Amino acid sequence: MKAAVVRKEHFNAAHRLHNKKWSDEQNQRIFGKCNNPNYHGHNYELLVKLVGEVDPDTGYLFDMKLLSDIIKEEVITPFDHRNLNLDLAEFKTLNPTAENIAYVIWHKLRNRIDEKFDLKITLYETERNIVEYPAD
Ligand code: NI
Repeated sequence: MKAAVVRKEHFNAAHRLHNKKWSDEQNQRIFGKCNNPNYHGHNYELLVKLVGEVDPDTGYLFDMKLLSDIIKEEVITPFDHRNLNLDLAEFKTLNPTAENIAYVIWHKLRNRIDEKFDLKITLYETERNIVEYPAD
């Protein structure tokens, strides 16, 4: 039997969207408030979805305590209450948009979760702005 499980987590973090190749005017025009030189914060909601076969012996798709621990180690501990631009090596050269944050999270978790499970990240940057990775 195939099923999906979803673990919901939360972190807050600061960021600044900026492209060094562009002038200040162009950065301001493209990124608006998110280009604020002194950074700003978001309350990110993270959904981690696994799809796969339910183990007939346990009745579980995946141990949710283990999933929670993996997300904590890979994402919550390093990201929560941090400045994504300044504190995380991943975003030294990668603009910390919700798209890129979801992409980084997917790779970190993909290394820890068996390939037999499909993995999908949904990241809420705000209540109304939501990114999914991969796209389908
Ligand atoms: Ni922002």
